[in-house]
Amino acid sequence: MNAPIRWGLLSTARINRRLIPAIRSSRRSRLAAVASRSKDSADAYAKEWGIPLAFGSYEEMLSSDAIDAVYISLPNHLHAEWSIRALQAGKHVLCEKPFALNTQEVDRMLQAGLASGCVLMEAFMYRCHPQTRTVLQWVGSGRLGEVRDVFGVFTFKQSGGEDYRLNPAQGGGSLWDVGVYPISFAQAVYGSAPKKVFGKADLSPSGVDLTFRGLMEYPGGRTAQFLASFALPFHTRMSLFGTQGQIEIERPFIGMENTGYFSFTNAAGETQKVSYPQKELYLCEVEEMESAILEGKPTEVTLPQTRDHIRTVEALLASARAGQPVELA
Ligand SMILES: NC(=O)c1ccc[n+]([C@@H]2O[C@H](COP(=O)([O-])OP(=O)(O)OC[C@H]3O[C@@H](n4cnc5c(N)ncnc54)[C@H](OP(=O)(O)O)[C@@H]3O)[C@@H](O)[C@H]2O)c1
Repeated sequence: MNAPIRWGLLSTARINRRLIPAIRSSRRSRLAAVASRSKDSADAYAKEWGIPLAFGSYEEMLSSDAIDAVYISLPNHLHAEWSIRALQAGKHVLCEKPFALNTQEVDRMLQAGLASGCVLMEAFMYRCHPQTRTVLQWVGSGRLGEVRDVFGVFTFKQSGGEDYRLNPAQGGGSLWDVGVYPISFAQAVYGSAPKKVFGKADLSPSGVDLTFRGLMEYPGGRTAQFLASFALPFHTRMSLFGTQGQIEIERPFIGMENTGYFSFTNAAGETQKVSYPQKELYLCEVEEMESAILEGKPTEVTLPQTRDHIRTVEALLASARAGQPVELA
């Protein structure tokens, strides 16, 4: 396939606002279309954002020859269905996190991806950013010694109202929404899913977790802990504790374009700021898709990693329900 990749937005979600300028800023991509559940909404959105084509249903956009790749920004419970339909229509798929709501859905998505030969990636944009790549290089180089403990936080005050985040049937809850960030970061560091997890949730009246704490044990007795919440002021952090040093990341998931560094403290207690190339966050995942589609390169977020994210969350939810640790199969 030749550049530019013709992108279609599958929904008029709020998060599209970050992808639209990213797609437009790359010479290897072009924003070609938007699809919405109603034609009026698609037309209004296309007009507002200057998008050439507007489709009044998702199916219509998927059957169009004017689209090569889709960005799936639907509520969580619809990710699997529409990723599969897009792949079956021969479209490359960048699917928002969380990729799906259980391992069976993930497996169906992976099968559809294999059968189509198209690129499929979970949209963990932060994984494609130079800050995360640099942190993982530092871990891999052994500068921290052996990393044995990881702590992560992603909290914000969810404003209430009509939001799928508060609906259990739509994959709501802080764990699916923001807990997946520290989990995926820890697993990029450790290179595997945990063996055992313990989760503790505070539930809303509707039954979604407003706050979720997780403790995860990885092979070799290494651990990760995280806090995810809709009920606490905005805060993000990742801390990696190694036998020879420690890394602190203030903006591990969003906003790292503004900080421009993470901190490394060596075994002597000396702290240095480590900078990395500045890059717009969402452009990083667009470029990752471009390299995969146009050059056949592997994606930074791999499908086995994605499958591990989802089975870890499933186990954490099961643990929170049971009030006991759960071993992963
Ligand atoms: N990577 C990131 O930085 C980031 C940030 C925020 C959110 N996200 C992810 O992006 C996805 C969308 O989040 P968002 O907050 O942007 O969503 P949102 O604003 O609530 O929009 C979701 C869109 O899905 C469509 N939709 C289809 N069926 C729906 C239904 N039954 N109920 C509600 N909407 C339905 C609607 O578009 P139409 O009416 O046009 O069909 C709606 O605009 C989520 O998976 C979330 O986890 C990622």
